[in-house]
Parts: sequence; C-alpha cells; structure tokens
Amino acid sequence: MKLVLIPTIIFLAMTAHAADDLSLPDPLKTLAGQKIVSSKEWRSTRRPEILELFRANVYGRAPVGRPAELTFELKETTETALSGKATRKLVDIHFSGPGGKGTIRLAVFIPNNVPKPVPGLLLICNRDRTNIDPSRKTKSPFWPVERIVERGYVAAAFHNSDLDPDMNDGFKDGVHGIYDSVDAPRSPDAWGTIAAWAWGASRVMDYFETDRDIDATRMGVVGHSRGGKTSLWCGAVDERFALVVSNESGCTGAALARRKKGESIKAINRGFPHWFCAKYKQYNDKENELPVDQHELIALMAPRLVYVASAAGDGWADPEGEFLACVHAASVYRLFGLPGLGSTSFPPLDHPLNSGHIGYHVRSGKHNLLESDWNCFMDFADKHWKKSQQ
Ligand code: GCU
Repeated sequence: MKLVLIPTIIFLAMTAHAADDLSLPDPLKTLAGQKIVSSKEWRSTRRPEILELFRANVYGRAPVGRPAELTFELKETTETALSGKATRKLVDIHFSGPGGKGTIRLAVFIPNNVPKPVPGLLLICNRDRTNIDPSRKTKSPFWPVERIVERGYVAAAFHNSDLDPDMNDGFKDGVHGIYDSVDAPRSPDAWGTIAAWAWGASRVMDYFETDRDIDATRMGVVGHSRGGKTSLWCGAVDERFALVVSNESGCTGAALARRKKGESIKAINRGFPHWFCAKYKQYNDKENELPVDQHELIALMAPRLVYVASAAGDGWADPEGEFLACVHAASVYRLFGLPGLGSTSFPPLDHPLNSGHIGYHVRSGKHNLLESDWNCFMDFADKHWKKSQQ
C-alpha cells in the first residue's frame, strides 16, 4: 500500500508545484485588480475582458459576424442513408461580402427513429477531404459517422479550406479576401486563419438553427490539433455551442503557454505565421508577457461543457499542460456552482475524467483523432445530456 501511495503523493505534489510556479494570470482578477466573486460579475466584466484580450493579442478580430448575405441551399436529402439508419443532408452555405463569395459544403447525418430534434457533434475537418466523405465510400476513424449515428447523435462536418486555405498567402484568399477592408493596411489584431475557420463553424450553427431535425441548443463543436485550436476559439466567441471539444490542440489551443513545454509560441508563429494575428508574434519567447494563458480560453466556455483530449505520445501538444489548463479553468466553473474538472491530479492513461462540466482524457498512443476519442466525447455528452434517461 505504502509503495503505491508514496509515488502518488510525490506526483501530486509535483503537479501542484509545476502549476504554482507558472504565475498564471488569474481568471478571477480583472486588469484593474478587482476580484470577481460571482457569475454575474464574471459575465458582465471579466468574461468580456478576457475574450477581448484573446482577440487583440492572439486570434484576431473578425470584421463580420453573421453576414447580411448568407443563404442555405439544401442540395440533397437522402432518408435511407447508412442502410436506412440516417437521413443525410448535403447543405451548401453561401456567403458573400465586398471581396467576393464563398461556400461551406456541409454534410449532416441525422439518426432516423429517434425523437427530433437530435443533439450532435460538428467536426471542423483539417485533414484531407476524404476523411469526411459523405458518400461513405471512404470511411475514416477521423469522422466515424456510423458510430456517431448509432449512439444517437447527429454527425456533421465541413472542411476548413472552404473558409480559408491553410497557407500563408498574405490573407488574400478565402474569407479574409472577402471581408477584409482593402483600403486600410492590415491591423495587428486582424483575424488569422484559425479565427476564419472558427467563423465558418458559426455559420454552420446559423444553419443548424434553421433545421428542425437538429437540436441547435445541444450541438458540440469538435476539432483535432489545428482544428482543436479552432473549436476552442469558436466556442469562446460563439456561446451557442453547448459543448466544445479540443482533441490534442496543444500550443495556442488547450496547452498552457507558460509551461514552455512542447511547441512554443515562437515555433508556432514561425511554422504557421498565418494562423494568429500579427500581434501574437510579439510574444515569441515572451510567454510571461502575454496578458492571458490558455486556461482562460477554456474558462470562457463556462458554464457550458468543454472536453479536452490528449495523447500520451503527443509531447508536442504537452498533455500535462492541456490537463493543467483544465484544472486552472475550474475556478470560473465554481462561480456557477459547478465542479469544473473535479480533479487536480493527472489521470491514468485511458481513464477519462467526465463527471464535471470540464472533461479530460489522456489516451495511449500518438497524435491522432480516433474512434475511441469520439466515444469518450459521446460518453461525456451522454452523461450531461441524457442524465434524465439514465
Ligand atoms: C503542427 C503544429 C501544431 C498543430 C499540428 C496539427 O504539428 O505545430 O500546432 O496542432 O500541426 O494541426 O496537426
């Protein structure tokens, strides 16, 4: 017994110590030094402040929300998809602005034979489009539609390149070219590519709100890696998403920047200069000067559901940093009388923490989005959304 307990106590002490050393910004203290003591103050004062700090310093500012010109074209409805288990809808979401127009090609599978409207999960796909093949000729664990439908959830997906190609193209292509002003020079807080993809997920939510088969009040947004950075930013900006899932999002996703483990701000700005706003580059090698850290991004989801997933073999995304961000977001959930993560010790491999409003797992294996990850997301959703049925 002693032999088991002693290493556990040492590990717990190390975890707490590692976090204490970081001097993280306090989500419950305003820039003016005021202590936030209620969910009301959080909503009226501190939440808008933190959101604005992330906008101005990290992800950038979208020049437009729901555009005046936005239409939904139902291209196809197949009621006998997946051998009759689902109705497949293919929807083109058209948007336009001063610099042109674009289309999000959304695929949705709605389980048949379940009461409508149905809750579900929207994947922001950042891998090859074949991973979200609506014909199901190609099946990928990255988007296990059959499993999602079997578990009674809507499976929806779009490809990030419908919003903006993942290239450092001087912000000429995609939604930047459509909505950015051409008269003024690009400002240091102009939106980057991650913010553009997140904007796309919100336009999909605009569609969900019109579809009576879909429960828009219980939709989750899911992303892997760069897609996970995107789902977190989307969930922060767009509170219509009731659940936000980050799979191995790492640097400038769920992982704390101040730990300086795995990918750094400097490395990500070098490798992917188009992902964030120009001002973010000022924090290269200056993590401690950033007025926010990523636990505060997670806290912006409160009191909604948020699930963070790591993989043990994904040191680049700093699994422990992702976990500690969840731990340090919990103070905001407590303002709402919610337990947050409900734990401060790093869980064993493949043992999800899913009883609080913040869920977390670290699974064995490498950087990837697998069907087992999806099952964990749905276990979490079941726990919170199907409580009354259990
Ligand atoms: C790179 C990048 C990460 C990103 C990942 C991905 O590894 O450094 O920040 O999360 O690509 O999107 O797959």
